[in-house]
Amino acid sequence: MCGIIGITGRKFVTDRLIDGLKRLEYRGYDSSGIAVLTDGSLQRERAEGKIKNLEAKLNAANIDGQSGIAHTRWATHGVPNETNAHPHFSGRVGVVHNGIIENFLELRKELSKTREFRTETDTEVVAHLVDAALEQGDNPKDAFRKSLKQLTGAYAFGVIIDGVEDQIFCARAGSPLAIGIGEGEMYIGSDAMALTQLTNNLIYLEEGDWAILTPDSYEIFDRQDKPVTREATIISGGPAMAEKGNYRHFMLKEIYEQPETVGRTLANYIDEFRLTANIPPELDFSEFDRIVIIACGTACYAAMVAKYWFEQLGGVAVDVDIASEFRYRKPVISKNSLFIAVSQSGETADTLAALRYAKEHGTKTAALVNVMTSTMAREADIALPINAGPEIGVASTKAFTSQLTALASLALSAAVTRRALSRDAEIRLARALIETPRLIKESLLLDGQIERLAFELSSSKQAFYLGRGSQVPIAYEGALKLKEISYIHAEGYAAGELKHGPIALIEDGTPVIVLAPYDNLFEKTISNLQEVASRGAKIILITDETGAKSAGDLASYVITMPDSDSFVAPIIMTLAVQLLAYHTAVHLGTDVDQPRNLAKSVTVE
Ligand code: M6R
Repeated sequence: MCGIIGITGRKFVTDRLIDGLKRLEYRGYDSSGIAVLTDGSLQRERAEGKIKNLEAKLNAANIDGQSGIAHTRWATHGVPNETNAHPHFSGRVGVVHNGIIENFLELRKELSKTREFRTETDTEVVAHLVDAALEQGDNPKDAFRKSLKQLTGAYAFGVIIDGVEDQIFCARAGSPLAIGIGEGEMYIGSDAMALTQLTNNLIYLEEGDWAILTPDSYEIFDRQDKPVTREATIISGGPAMAEKGNYRHFMLKEIYEQPETVGRTLANYIDEFRLTANIPPELDFSEFDRIVIIACGTACYAAMVAKYWFEQLGGVAVDVDIASEFRYRKPVISKNSLFIAVSQSGETADTLAALRYAKEHGTKTAALVNVMTSTMAREADIALPINAGPEIGVASTKAFTSQLTALASLALSAAVTRRALSRDAEIRLARALIETPRLIKESLLLDGQIERLAFELSSSKQAFYLGRGSQVPIAYEGALKLKEISYIHAEGYAAGELKHGPIALIEDGTPVIVLAPYDNLFEKTISNLQEVASRGAKIILITDETGAKSAGDLASYVITMPDSDSFVAPIIMTLAVQLLAYHTAVHLGTDVDQPRNLAKSVTVE
């Protein structure tokens, strides 16, 4: 995680570095900092907490220069205070870093014999290594190059050196880094978003690459220090940064955008006239006997719903795994499998590592991503966009429903390709998908009712979410949303599983949110609802119109979503759990868009 940006040129850089940092704040907001070269000497300012704190300090300090680096931090090593904030300095060297230096303890032990360490971070060793090499007489290029050779772990670096006024040194291994090409200026940034207001001409460094930038040139070297040429990419999309508009939070705006975002996903994957799935030709589902879907967090819950769809519609075996477990398990993955990485950002370190593992094993890979300039989109054999547009709220909402929509379309295509579905069934399911934007819009009308309910939920210490079938992952997602933004302890369970242990936690008044659209599992879910109701649970039933009529008065509260085909019900039910979590957090006064301890993009393992 963490975001880095750097500029070397002939104009002052501080304001533009801060602007870039704000675009990177989604990567972490524990602290931030900036270092510039002013008349050849290093100066820095750092602040604990959000970038606005750094801005306030900069207003007073007024530091600027024509080369500089900046950083927004998601703490890994060392508490999130000002001392541990980047850039880290040692002698002549200033460093910003995204990643984890795994051998830092060993290096620190050695370097501590002659050098004083001031922070608890892993990054500080890098500043000392480069500075020590300079002291020993190496020129800046060699000092940087040799230092890289001593590091293990993941990194993207930006380095500036006192006395080397117009150069930025940078490197990438395991964490993403792009070079931006300007006119009389060069840039580095963790992603395209950081640089979009500066240039649209980017070069994505490859694993092990390092580079030296001056205002008019760049030189790139590979892991073996050989000069290499990397292709430049012109990225589309202007400098506009997503705005909240009239919404109180990005999360609410993104929830409300879902009729359009799901519509955009559908436009890409469903042919509305032929009522069939519209999938890239290189994705031929008749080639595969198994699908492996890997993701983290919310994206993984989308993958879990997809398992129901692929298996039930197309009879295709699907394995879903959390990326951080998959990558270290030495999973058996055959050449006849299709590997799909699902990731909003396309940068999540564990998901990316899993994708690379699959590629190394000769498996065809696809990346279902929101950010099409991301590493996953570039490295997978097939990049599948979800077209949800920039998602700024740390809690994923519109990306989730677009992931579900795209995966539902892929499952439909797989079922048709494998001749598991009649044309009538295909038409029914395609129509059900086409209906979802309208149903989402209708669901949003329940916002006021859900807000009142959230007020009750906000006084609880814990909550449970139950579902069956394809609603189980929505129960997980509902619990995750509530946890991450309201800090109320919540768990999602398969409704039939609760009696095998967790039911012991139910006491008088414990809120249990039951997801039960009127489908073939409705009666069974209602039986499970009764089991917890009879033990004192306060039931919030999220169902549809038919379900609400059948459920009678078993629940304390009923949220009645519009009736939908059971195929798309997971998408529709999601709206209720998103709004419930959002309003609960607002009642509790938390920082909804940037909840504590989290970052939008998790680029460390
Ligand atoms: O960018 P990704 O989709 O790979 O991110 C995966 C998770 O980090 C992400 O979904 C996370 O769980 C969200 N904060 C959930 O709201």
